[in-house]
Amino acid sequence: MDTFSLARLPTPVQRLERLSAEVGAEIWVKRDDLTGFGLSGNKVRKLEFLMAEAKAQGADTVLTTGGLQSNHCRATAVAARMMGMEPVLLLRGELPEVPDSNLLLDRLLGARVRMCTPQEYRDSRNEILAQMADEVRQAGGRPYVIPEGGSSGLGALGFVAAGHELMAQDAPDFDGVVVAVGSGGTLAGLAMAGLDCPVKGVAVCDDRAYFAAEVRRIAEEAAAIDSVVLPPQGEAWQVVEGYQGPAYAVAEPHVWQTIAKVARLEGLLLDPVYTGKAMDCLLDKLKRKEWSGRWLFWHTGGAFGLFGRGNELVEP
Ligand SMILES: Cc1ncc(COP(=O)(O)O)c(C=O)c1O
Repeated sequence: MDTFSLARLPTPVQRLERLSAEVGAEIWVKRDDLTGFGLSGNKVRKLEFLMAEAKAQGADTVLTTGGLQSNHCRATAVAARMMGMEPVLLLRGELPEVPDSNLLLDRLLGARVRMCTPQEYRDSRNEILAQMADEVRQAGGRPYVIPEGGSSGLGALGFVAAGHELMAQDAPDFDGVVVAVGSGGTLAGLAMAGLDCPVKGVAVCDDRAYFAAEVRRIAEEAAAIDSVVLPPQGEAWQVVEGYQGPAYAVAEPHVWQTIAKVARLEGLLLDPVYTGKAMDCLLDKLKRKEWSGRWLFWHTGGAFGLFGRGNELVEP
Protein backbone atom coordinates (compact mmCIF):
# COMPACT_ATOMS: atom_id res chain seq x y z
CA MET A 1 0.00 0.00 0.00
CA ASP A 2 1.37 3.43 -0.95
CA THR A 3 1.90 5.96 1.81
CA PHE A 4 3.09 9.55 1.80
CA SER A 5 5.36 10.37 4.75
CA LEU A 6 3.81 13.15 6.84
CA ALA A 7 4.17 12.07 10.50
CA ARG A 8 7.23 11.93 12.73
CA LEU A 9 7.33 8.23 13.50
CA PRO A 10 7.72 6.16 15.57
CA THR A 11 6.10 8.18 18.34
CA PRO A 12 7.59 7.56 21.81
CA VAL A 13 6.11 5.20 24.41
CA GLN A 14 6.61 6.55 27.92
CA ARG A 15 5.74 5.53 31.47
CA LEU A 16 3.82 8.15 33.47
CA GLU A 17 5.59 7.77 36.81
CA ARG A 18 3.69 10.17 39.03
CA LEU A 19 0.24 9.47 37.64
CA SER A 20 0.90 5.73 38.05
CA ALA A 21 1.93 6.23 41.68
CA GLU A 22 -1.18 8.29 42.34
CA VAL A 23 -3.65 5.77 40.89
CA GLY A 24 -1.87 2.62 42.07
CA ALA A 25 -1.58 1.09 38.59
CA GLU A 26 0.92 1.42 35.75
CA ILE A 27 0.01 3.95 33.08
CA TRP A 28 2.03 4.38 29.91
CA VAL A 29 1.38 6.73 27.02
CA LYS A 30 1.85 6.39 23.26
CA ARG A 31 2.71 9.93 22.18
CA ASP A 32 0.78 10.45 18.95
CA ASP A 33 0.40 14.04 20.12
CA LEU A 34 4.00 14.29 18.88
CA THR A 35 3.41 13.24 15.27
CA GLY A 36 3.99 16.87 14.27
CA PHE A 37 2.78 20.37 15.11
CA GLY A 38 0.29 21.44 12.45
CA LEU A 39 -0.01 17.73 11.78
CA SER A 40 -0.20 16.65 15.43
CA GLY A 41 -2.43 13.80 16.51
CA ASN A 42 -3.91 10.59 15.20
CA LYS A 43 -5.36 11.99 11.97
CA VAL A 44 -1.97 12.27 10.31
CA ARG A 45 -1.53 8.48 10.36
CA LYS A 46 -4.71 8.14 8.30
CA LEU A 47 -3.64 11.00 6.05
CA GLU A 48 -0.40 9.21 5.16
CA PHE A 49 -2.54 6.64 3.32
CA LEU A 50 -5.30 8.97 2.10
CA MET A 51 -3.03 11.71 0.75
CA ALA A 52 -0.91 9.10 -1.04
CA GLU A 53 -4.05 8.03 -2.88
CA ALA A 54 -4.96 11.67 -3.60
CA LYS A 55 -1.50 12.21 -5.07
CA ALA A 56 -1.61 8.98 -7.09
CA GLN A 57 -4.96 10.09 -8.56
CA GLY A 58 -3.45 13.44 -9.55
CA ALA A 59 -5.73 15.46 -7.26
CA ASP A 60 -5.08 19.16 -6.83
CA THR A 61 -7.87 19.81 -4.31
CA VAL A 62 -8.71 17.88 -1.13
CA LEU A 63 -12.18 18.09 0.40
CA THR A 64 -13.22 16.84 3.80
CA THR A 65 -15.71 17.49 6.58
CA GLY A 66 -16.09 17.72 10.36
CA GLY A 67 -17.15 19.89 13.27
CA LEU A 68 -16.30 23.56 13.47
CA GLN A 69 -13.15 22.79 15.49
CA SER A 70 -12.29 19.53 13.75
CA ASN A 71 -8.68 18.37 14.28
CA HIS A 72 -9.08 16.18 11.22
CA CYS A 73 -10.05 19.12 8.99
CA ARG A 74 -7.14 21.20 10.28
CA ALA A 75 -4.67 18.35 9.77
CA THR A 76 -6.04 17.72 6.26
CA ALA A 77 -5.66 21.42 5.41
CA VAL A 78 -2.04 21.37 6.63
CA ALA A 79 -1.25 18.18 4.70
CA ALA A 80 -2.89 19.57 1.55
CA ARG A 81 -0.77 22.72 1.69
CA MET A 82 2.39 20.69 2.39
CA MET A 83 1.65 18.80 -0.81
CA GLY A 84 0.78 21.86 -2.87
CA MET A 85 -2.97 21.17 -2.95
CA GLU A 86 -6.04 23.30 -2.15
CA PRO A 87 -7.98 22.41 1.03
CA VAL A 88 -11.80 22.70 0.96
CA LEU A 89 -13.77 22.04 4.17
CA LEU A 90 -17.43 21.45 4.98
CA LEU A 91 -17.82 22.41 8.64
CA ARG A 92 -20.77 21.85 10.98
CA GLY A 93 -22.02 24.85 12.97
CA GLU A 94 -21.86 28.61 12.64
CA LEU A 95 -18.79 30.66 11.85
CA PRO A 96 -17.83 32.85 14.81
CA GLU A 97 -16.85 36.44 14.16
CA VAL A 98 -13.30 35.78 15.34
CA PRO A 99 -11.84 32.36 14.45
CA ASP A 100 -9.74 30.59 17.08
CA SER A 101 -8.00 27.24 17.67
CA ASN A 102 -8.31 24.81 14.74
CA LEU A 103 -10.58 27.19 12.83
CA LEU A 104 -7.94 29.92 13.05
CA LEU A 105 -5.44 27.52 11.50
CA ASP A 106 -7.94 26.58 8.75
CA ARG A 107 -8.24 30.28 7.94
CA LEU A 108 -4.51 30.83 8.08
CA LEU A 109 -4.03 27.95 5.65
CA GLY A 110 -6.54 29.55 3.30
CA ALA A 111 -8.92 26.60 3.35
CA ARG A 112 -12.13 27.30 1.45
CA VAL A 113 -14.85 26.73 4.05
CA ARG A 114 -18.53 25.98 3.58
CA MET A 115 -20.78 25.78 6.65
CA CYS A 116 -23.77 23.48 7.23
CA THR A 117 -26.29 23.03 10.02
CA PRO A 118 -26.06 20.06 12.40
CA GLN A 119 -29.07 18.51 10.66
CA GLU A 120 -27.56 18.89 7.18
CA TYR A 121 -24.36 17.39 8.56
CA ARG A 122 -26.18 14.41 10.01
CA ASP A 123 -28.45 13.74 7.04
CA SER A 124 -26.49 14.71 3.96
CA ARG A 125 -22.84 15.63 4.56
CA ASN A 126 -21.61 13.08 2.00
CA GLU A 127 -24.03 14.37 -0.65
CA ILE A 128 -22.98 17.97 0.03
CA LEU A 129 -19.30 16.96 -0.20
CA ALA A 130 -19.98 15.20 -3.51
CA GLN A 131 -21.68 18.33 -4.81
CA MET A 132 -18.73 20.47 -3.67
CA ALA A 133 -16.40 18.05 -5.48
CA ASP A 134 -18.51 18.50 -8.65
CA GLU A 135 -18.11 22.25 -8.34
CA VAL A 136 -14.31 21.82 -8.14
CA ARG A 137 -14.45 19.61 -11.26
CA GLN A 138 -16.57 22.14 -13.14
CA ALA A 139 -13.99 24.82 -12.31
CA GLY A 140 -11.28 22.63 -13.88
CA GLY A 141 -9.89 21.16 -10.65
CA ARG A 142 -9.24 17.53 -9.69
CA PRO A 143 -10.88 16.82 -6.32
CA TYR A 144 -10.17 14.06 -3.81
CA VAL A 145 -12.78 13.54 -1.08
CA ILE A 146 -11.91 12.30 2.41
CA PRO A 147 -14.84 11.23 4.63
CA GLU A 148 -15.43 12.51 8.18
CA GLY A 149 -12.47 11.85 10.45
CA GLY A 150 -10.53 10.19 7.64
CA SER A 151 -12.33 7.08 8.84
CA SER A 152 -12.48 5.05 5.65
CA GLY A 153 -10.98 1.59 5.29
CA LEU A 154 -7.90 3.14 3.70
CA GLY A 155 -7.49 5.68 6.52
CA ALA A 156 -7.86 2.97 9.17
CA LEU A 157 -4.87 1.13 7.66
CA GLY A 158 -2.81 3.95 9.17
CA PHE A 159 -3.73 2.58 12.56
CA VAL A 160 -3.07 -1.01 11.62
CA ALA A 161 0.44 0.27 10.87
CA ALA A 162 0.44 2.18 14.17
CA GLY A 163 -0.34 -1.03 16.05
CA HIS A 164 2.55 -2.75 14.26
CA GLU A 165 4.78 0.20 15.17
CA LEU A 166 3.91 -0.31 18.85
CA MET A 167 4.65 -4.04 18.68
CA ALA A 168 8.12 -3.31 17.26
CA GLN A 169 8.93 -0.87 20.07
CA ASP A 170 10.79 -1.55 23.26
CA ALA A 171 7.68 -1.50 25.46
CA PRO A 172 6.38 -3.91 28.11
CA ASP A 173 3.23 -6.05 27.76
CA PHE A 174 0.03 -4.19 28.52
CA ASP A 175 -3.26 -5.32 30.03
CA GLY A 176 -5.06 -2.99 27.67
CA VAL A 177 -4.86 0.00 25.36
CA VAL A 178 -7.23 2.96 25.79
CA VAL A 179 -8.04 5.36 22.97
CA ALA A 180 -10.69 8.02 22.31
CA VAL A 181 -13.31 7.22 19.65
CA GLY A 182 -14.80 10.03 17.58
CA SER A 183 -15.49 8.50 14.19
CA GLY A 184 -14.14 4.97 14.70
CA GLY A 185 -11.18 4.70 12.32
CA THR A 186 -8.48 4.73 14.98
CA LEU A 187 -10.18 2.00 17.01
CA ALA A 188 -10.90 -0.04 13.88
CA GLY A 189 -7.25 0.10 12.82
CA LEU A 190 -5.87 -0.79 16.25
CA ALA A 191 -8.41 -3.59 16.61
CA MET A 192 -7.20 -5.09 13.31
CA ALA A 193 -3.51 -4.72 14.19
CA GLY A 194 -3.38 -7.96 16.19
CA LEU A 195 -2.12 -6.48 19.47
CA ASP A 196 -1.85 -9.04 22.24
CA CYS A 197 -4.06 -7.06 24.63
CA PRO A 198 -7.59 -5.63 24.32
CA VAL A 199 -8.18 -2.19 22.82
CA LYS A 200 -10.79 -0.15 24.68
CA GLY A 201 -12.26 2.66 22.61
CA VAL A 202 -13.83 5.36 24.75
CA ALA A 203 -16.82 6.94 23.01
CA VAL A 204 -16.66 10.75 23.23
CA CYS A 205 -20.15 11.10 21.71
CA ASP A 206 -22.90 8.78 20.39
CA ASP A 207 -22.92 5.31 21.97
CA ARG A 208 -21.49 1.79 21.93
CA ALA A 209 -23.90 0.37 19.37
CA TYR A 210 -23.26 3.22 16.93
CA PHE A 211 -19.47 2.95 17.13
CA ALA A 212 -19.39 -0.85 17.11
CA ALA A 213 -21.31 -0.71 13.81
CA GLU A 214 -18.97 1.99 12.48
CA VAL A 215 -15.88 -0.04 13.40
CA ARG A 216 -17.33 -3.05 11.53
CA ARG A 217 -18.17 -0.94 8.47
CA ILE A 218 -14.69 0.63 8.36
CA ALA A 219 -13.04 -2.77 8.89
CA GLU A 220 -15.04 -4.28 6.00
CA GLU A 221 -13.81 -1.47 3.75
CA ALA A 222 -10.23 -2.04 4.94
CA ALA A 223 -10.46 -5.79 4.33
CA ALA A 224 -11.47 -5.08 0.74
CA ILE A 225 -8.18 -3.27 0.10
CA ASP A 226 -5.72 -5.15 2.30
CA SER A 227 -5.47 -8.50 4.07
CA VAL A 228 -6.71 -7.34 7.47
CA VAL A 229 -9.23 -9.00 9.75
CA LEU A 230 -11.38 -7.52 12.51
CA PRO A 231 -11.60 -9.92 15.47
CA PRO A 232 -15.03 -10.20 17.13
CA GLN A 233 -16.00 -7.45 19.52
CA GLY A 234 -15.44 -8.48 23.13
CA GLU A 235 -12.00 -9.76 24.01
CA ALA A 236 -9.89 -8.03 21.35
CA TRP A 237 -11.70 -4.69 21.23
CA GLN A 238 -14.60 -2.92 22.85
CA VAL A 239 -16.38 0.41 22.81
CA VAL A 240 -16.67 1.84 26.33
CA GLU A 241 -19.59 4.18 26.92
CA GLY A 242 -20.60 6.35 29.87
CA TYR A 243 -17.87 8.97 29.48
CA GLN A 244 -19.36 10.99 26.62
CA GLY A 245 -20.68 13.70 28.95
CA PRO A 246 -23.67 15.81 27.89
CA ALA A 247 -22.63 16.15 24.23
CA TYR A 248 -19.77 16.08 21.74
CA ALA A 249 -17.07 18.60 22.76
CA VAL A 250 -18.85 19.42 26.04
CA ALA A 251 -16.57 18.51 28.94
CA GLU A 252 -17.88 18.34 32.50
CA PRO A 253 -15.81 19.79 35.39
CA HIS A 254 -14.39 16.37 36.32
CA VAL A 255 -12.92 16.05 32.81
CA TRP A 256 -11.24 19.44 33.23
CA GLN A 257 -9.96 18.29 36.63
CA THR A 258 -8.43 15.23 34.97
CA ILE A 259 -6.85 17.41 32.27
CA ALA A 260 -5.34 19.74 34.90
CA LYS A 261 -4.18 16.83 37.08
CA VAL A 262 -2.34 15.12 34.21
CA ALA A 263 -0.81 18.43 33.13
CA ARG A 264 0.48 19.11 36.65
CA LEU A 265 1.73 15.60 37.40
CA GLU A 266 3.25 14.79 34.03
CA GLY A 267 3.46 17.93 31.87
CA LEU A 268 1.22 16.07 29.42
CA LEU A 269 -1.45 18.13 27.64
CA LEU A 270 -4.87 16.58 26.99
CA ASP A 271 -7.89 18.19 25.34
CA PRO A 272 -11.53 18.55 26.42
CA VAL A 273 -13.06 16.92 23.32
CA TYR A 274 -11.24 13.57 23.01
CA THR A 275 -8.21 12.71 25.13
CA GLY A 276 -9.52 14.35 28.34
CA LYS A 277 -12.63 12.15 28.25
CA ALA A 278 -10.62 9.02 27.41
CA MET A 279 -8.15 9.64 30.27
CA ASP A 280 -11.05 10.38 32.61
CA CYS A 281 -12.43 6.94 31.72
CA LEU A 282 -9.10 5.18 32.30
CA LEU A 283 -8.56 6.81 35.71
CA ASP A 284 -12.16 6.12 36.76
CA LYS A 285 -12.01 2.44 35.72
CA LEU A 286 -8.73 1.99 37.63
CA LYS A 287 -10.14 3.75 40.68
CA ARG A 288 -13.21 1.50 40.64
CA LYS A 289 -10.90 -1.54 40.23
CA GLU A 290 -12.81 -2.55 37.09
CA TRP A 291 -9.44 -2.46 35.28
CA SER A 292 -6.03 -3.14 36.80
CA GLY A 293 -2.42 -3.77 35.90
CA ARG A 294 -0.48 -1.98 33.17
CA TRP A 295 -2.32 0.24 30.67
CA LEU A 296 -1.28 2.11 27.57
CA PHE A 297 -3.07 5.40 26.96
CA TRP A 298 -2.95 6.17 23.23
CA HIS A 299 -2.62 9.96 23.14
CA THR A 300 -4.34 11.06 19.94
CA GLY A 301 -3.42 14.77 20.14
CA GLY A 302 -6.04 17.50 19.88
CA ALA A 303 -4.29 20.14 22.03
CA PHE A 304 -5.51 22.99 19.79
CA GLY A 305 -8.96 22.19 21.23
CA LEU A 306 -7.80 23.66 24.57
CA PHE A 307 -7.51 27.17 23.21
CA GLY A 308 -10.48 29.48 23.54
CA ARG A 309 -11.85 27.43 26.45
CA GLY A 310 -9.97 28.97 29.37
CA ASN A 311 -13.20 29.97 31.11
CA GLU A 312 -13.98 26.26 31.71
CA LEU A 313 -10.74 25.45 33.53
CA VAL A 314 -11.22 23.73 36.93
CA GLU A 315 -8.61 23.15 39.64
CA PRO A 316 -7.73 19.44 40.06
C1 LIG B 1 -7.62 14.40 19.08
C2 LIG B 1 -8.48 13.30 18.59
N1 LIG B 1 -8.52 12.15 19.28
C3 LIG B 1 -9.27 11.12 18.91
C4 LIG B 1 -10.08 11.20 17.79
C5 LIG B 1 -10.91 10.03 17.44
O1 LIG B 1 -10.40 9.30 16.36
P1 LIG B 1 -11.39 8.58 15.36
O2 LIG B 1 -12.11 9.67 14.62
O3 LIG B 1 -10.51 7.79 14.49
O4 LIG B 1 -12.33 7.77 16.16
C6 LIG B 1 -10.09 12.38 17.02
C7 LIG B 1 -10.96 12.56 15.85
O5 LIG B 1 -12.12 12.24 15.80
C8 LIG B 1 -9.27 13.46 17.43
O6 LIG B 1 -9.23 14.61 16.74
